[in-house]
Amino acid sequence: MDERSTGLHSIGDAMGRHAQDIDALWDVMLWVCGFMYLLVVGFLLLALFRRGPRRDINDHTQAHEERGLSASLATWTGLIALGLFGLTLFSYFTDRSLVQAAADAQIAIKITGHQWWWEIEYTDPNDPSRQLRTANELHLPVGTPVKISLESRDVIHSFWVPSLHGKQDLIPGRDNDIEILADKEGVYRGICAEFCGLQHSKMHLDVVVESKDGYSAWYERQLQAASPPSDPLAERGHGVFMATACNMCHTISGTDAGGSTGPDLTHVASRRFIAAGALQNHRDNMRAWLANPQAIKPGNHMPIVSLSADQLDALTAYLGTLQ
Ligand code: CUA
Repeated sequence: MDERSTGLHSIGDAMGRHAQDIDALWDVMLWVCGFMYLLVVGFLLLALFRRGPRRDINDHTQAHEERGLSASLATWTGLIALGLFGLTLFSYFTDRSLVQAAADAQIAIKITGHQWWWEIEYTDPNDPSRQLRTANELHLPVGTPVKISLESRDVIHSFWVPSLHGKQDLIPGRDNDIEILADKEGVYRGICAEFCGLQHSKMHLDVVVESKDGYSAWYERQLQAASPPSDPLAERGHGVFMATACNMCHTISGTDAGGSTGPDLTHVASRRFIAAGALQNHRDNMRAWLANPQAIKPGNHMPIVSLSADQLDALTAYLGTLQ
């Protein structure tokens, strides 16, 4: 079973403060516009099917009917103005509420969009040694306001986790940000919501919202450097990683690999998916990805590195140790 299908991905399942505001606004708009629509259609049908008998019209009945028409026109105009005013007011207060919720962010995160993956950096202005770099899986503590600054390295992408907030674009050369406050623990699906090239549809992001303790434990684990492999196969895989092109693009902290073109792999085995949500993270998928990433995500920037079956086995085993 695709585990992703359990990840919530709907503006109707609001799991965060901002998403609830947006959901409430959507409900009000739906009800007001739905009511107006039914009225219009109702009167239209009434006009279509009402065929009164021909009457002799004298001055008196004409004047009477015109008064009736003016009155109903005024009522109708008033109703529309009231509806629009109500929607504007509600929309304004929703906007205010979204801004206020952002005021006291406790965690600062930077997300950079790449074709076609998400680079995630947890920044700590007071202690640079606690900065953290990961990819495609955002972890957040429940009930904590978080500020995410959004940048792009190449083209315009859009960060969208419908269960937590609306969309925000990542635009090259421009600083954008978004605030999130997740109310319930769970795994929520995020996607890129702006067409950004061939693999736009395979640019997913998991948002794992966990208890504050769970989040702290995750953070401390992620801060640690990769432990050297202990079994011979993984050790050979480590050698393959360092001897081929892998280390030019990827970082594994605690080793000589320090590339920054591709995702940081220090704890790649701890993530639920690889290739920005394209594949579930298990041995067979990892091996298939390493053997030919272009077959799984054509056009992506990971080159095919020619490896023997033995080298592939070893490399897969090594990456599997990076918990
Ligand atoms: Cu990135 Cu669409």
